[in-house]
Amino acid sequence: MNRFLVITLLLAGSLSLAQSPDMPSDFLNKEWHKERRQKLREKLPSNSVAVFFANAVRNRSNDVDYIYHQDPDFQYLTGYREPNAVLLIFKDKQKTSGGALYDEIIFVQPKNMMREMWTGRRLGNMGTKEQLGIQQAFNNTEFKDYNIDFKAFEQVLFLDFHNDVRNDAQDPGDLYDLIEQFKVKAGYPQKDALSVAREQPKNNLNTKTLVSIMNDLRGIKTPEELDLLRKAVMISCIGQVEVMKAMKPGMSEREVQGIHEYVFKKYQAEDLGYPSIVGGGHNGCILHYIDNYKPALDPKELILMDLGAEYHGYTADITRTIPVSGKFSPEQKQIYDLVLAAQEEAMKICKPGTSFSALYDATARVINKGLAELNIIDKPSDKHLYYPHGCCHHIGLDVHDRGNYSVLQENMVITIEPGIYIQDNTTKDPKWWGIAVRIEDDYLITKDGCEHLSAFAPRTTEAIEAMMKQPSPLDNFLLPDLDKVTPKGN
Ligand code: GLY
Ligand code: MN
Ligand code: MN
Repeated sequence: MNRFLVITLLLAGSLSLAQSPDMPSDFLNKEWHKERRQKLREKLPSNSVAVFFANAVRNRSNDVDYIYHQDPDFQYLTGYREPNAVLLIFKDKQKTSGGALYDEIIFVQPKNMMREMWTGRRLGNMGTKEQLGIQQAFNNTEFKDYNIDFKAFEQVLFLDFHNDVRNDAQDPGDLYDLIEQFKVKAGYPQKDALSVAREQPKNNLNTKTLVSIMNDLRGIKTPEELDLLRKAVMISCIGQVEVMKAMKPGMSEREVQGIHEYVFKKYQAEDLGYPSIVGGGHNGCILHYIDNYKPALDPKELILMDLGAEYHGYTADITRTIPVSGKFSPEQKQIYDLVLAAQEEAMKICKPGTSFSALYDATARVINKGLAELNIIDKPSDKHLYYPHGCCHHIGLDVHDRGNYSVLQENMVITIEPGIYIQDNTTKDPKWWGIAVRIEDDYLITKDGCEHLSAFAPRTTEAIEAMMKQPSPLDNFLLPDLDKVTPKGN
């Protein structure tokens, strides 16, 4: 190797991933993840070890996999974004054969020039140690021979295994192998995962405690996480605003989805927190409608748009429902205002100490009373299916994030999302049929109230109608007619 090449390689190696011009500079840094591991360690029971596995690579078909997404707990504790890895965090210091003390160890994908040329850069064990700051880092192929006596721990904590991990016969250190090796080392009963989950472990294996520890940790957001969440929320709001400006009858659900998702990408959101829900008219009654196939939106209908940009792992969850024509009909406005009033009622009590069930009750009370006043139901106490879902959940690394679901605490981030969905033939008067409204906003719980993070996206009927009158940059984005254009031009 010549000297120039050596110097170049050394320089490249010393550039941390976060400093690389190829990467954004606002990922959570290694000190943040290290602190999270320490917080977890403090919550571990005495003489225990916690074991976490990276997410599985899932195959789409043939040689195409689904885009990889790290397991959120693994992401939270490490910042490692690659598959085929296992992390162990110990309550107490362990000793290497050389006498060095450590209380965390990770096994990751090895560097591999050929594989990296096809599927992307890998940190490798050295990169993981330097850039993610994990004390001990080895290649995943070394886990098999890692000398650990799981029987010596009072508790071995891990999360239930999901049963969709495939074995890559070409890769001796893939997730499948890591899990199998762990099971053998830890004395995990060789039964299917479901029957094990149903049984109380008879030994020191524990699949319950980590759930509550991770709920406690992830449910309260740090200032650094709030920065990322605020970005995800603002990006998603801008998507809603741009669609309001661009909306025209005849647009397809897919095109509307595309405008939102273009905005997400424009602001460097690498993913969606969940598949985009864009339902015109009756399709809005399907709560998680993700087909988005309707080719031409009708000016008489509403369009319900529930989308969240995921920014560096953190996702927003925002729904706006708007009239395709730019103006709500009287019936649409009546239902819309009822949903809005329900949301406002919950917002009034959105503060530390309020229970999740109290938030739901506040929304349901308003909706039931309003539906009775509109003669959609006979009396507020009637059972009905017009509001069939809960109203509130944490958001964060998951759209339905881990967290404590009893009472609100400072620095939780939640959504409030009431809705009314009126399917055909479910009311005496057909004027309501096909009206579906959900309004969903994101809130940071503060010391004595809440901050409305998604207020940038218009929410009242007046504000929405006003925004829909604004010009859109897409008014001039005219593409050729696909039926008329030919390979040689049109
Ligand atoms: N977008 C899923 C939900 O609103 O909970
Ligand atoms: Mn939601
Ligand atoms: Mn949603």
